Amino acid sequence: MSDVDAPEAGGEGLAPSPEAAARVFGDLLPQAERFAQMLATSGTERGLIGPREVPRLWERHVLNCAVVAEVLDGADHVLDVGSGAGLPGIALALAAPETRVTLVEPMLRRTVWLDEVVSKLGLGDRVAVIRSRAENLDDGTTAPVVTARAVARLEVLAPWCLPLVETGGRMVALKGSSAQQEVEQAQKVLRRLGGGAVDVVDCGSAYLEVPTTVVIVTKEDVGRSGGSSRGRRSRSKEKR
Ligand SMILES: C[S@@+](CC[C@H](N)C(=O)[O-])C[C@H]1O[C@@H](n2cnc3c(N)ncnc32)[C@H](O)[C@@H]1O
Repeated sequence: MSDVDAPEAGGEGLAPSPEAAARVFGDLLPQAERFAQMLATSGTERGLIGPREVPRLWERHVLNCAVVAEVLDGADHVLDVGSGAGLPGIALALAAPETRVTLVEPMLRRTVWLDEVVSKLGLGDRVAVIRSRAENLDDGTTAPVVTARAVARLEVLAPWCLPLVETGGRMVALKGSSAQQEVEQAQKVLRRLGGGAVDVVDCGSAYLEVPTTVVIVTKEDVGRSGGSSRGRRSRSKEKR
């Protein structure tokens, strides 16, 4: 058995993959199971995820993130800001096999682990890890979709993420019940950064007891004025 195939020992308390995982990950279910196993073993040992999360890794973390693939709309590249233990970035790469993913994470300990995951899951041809804070990415990297989960409140997150979104692309922030309130608090910042339509959408309703609520901000052409006030709308919990 090669190193790529050898599962890590341990991970007690990790539940078998739920039936929904087979539908969400399809042919890549074995890699998704391997990812969950790595989170439950080296991920917890190295402090990337709390040991108490292990029994609920599938529903609260891996699937919760993977279902956001529902709103990628065929994007060929996703940039995940503050990936931490690869959430949502790795889960999205496994749920959307046609999509290239760039994981942006400033902490060395985390990028080392992410590099190991990418290598062991055989994702090196389409998943890259960049060690940086999002606001310090100065190589012109942009993507049609920029994701983030549990990184910061929307009004703090938007100035880090929206500059990385291509015009016409979308920032997709995974949020919980605070989504609508955060949208209201971030209105001014979003407008200044060229944020256009704002949607609050539930993902994974077909698979999860608690769907994943995301805030989707479409980036308009900022042009010379530095922002746009046209076409803004907030559509609460609209299903796509
Ligand atoms: C609470 S963790 C969440 C990790 C992962 N997204 C998740 O949902 O499990 C927040 C992560 O954001 C990273 N982070 C904080 N500020 C950042 C910034 N300005 N740019 C990129 N990453 C950042 C941290 O290093 C950390 O890994």
